[in-house]
Amino acid sequence: MSLEIYKLIHLISILALIFSFGLMIGHYKNGGEKNKQYNIIHGISITIILISGFGMLARMSIHWPWPTWVIIKALVWIVLGGIIVLFRKKPNSLIGLISILLFGGLAIFSAIYHI
Ligand code: HEM
Repeated sequence: MSLEIYKLIHLISILALIFSFGLMIGHYKNGGEKNKQYNIIHGISITIILISGFGMLARMSIHWPWPTWVIIKALVWIVLGGIIVLFRKKPNSLIGLISILLFGGLAIFSAIYHI
């Protein structure tokens, strides 16, 4: 698969990830129980972000030790993987918005400027 196809998959799966966060915050804010379907959307999208990200690293011949921007993105990926626990325990839209914009913004900034 080409770098462009990996990037397309990467960006579409990021849309699905953010969508899953919105679903979860709305659901838990209304007192909803743990939702398997939303967790599956989150799980699949975060996994495809990782696979497509590594696909791009391979196409760009970026190997270990990774440059800082890739390490930043990997750390953000870990945070966005675990943040659903926070959304379930503290379903607050503002916390959700700030954390998604902060961490998502950091990953996007790193991807564009490679710093
Ligand atoms: C371990 C996790 C990740 C890896 C290995 C990874 C890797 C990459 C790579 C190699 C690129 C191509 C950069 C370029 O074309 O110069 C890229 C692009 C991108 N990544 Fe990731 N990524 C990861 C997670 C994320 C996350 C969590 C987000 C946002 C929430 C994200 C957002 C983006 C965006 C927006 C681009 C496109 C930037 C552009 O077109 O210039 N990535 N990623």
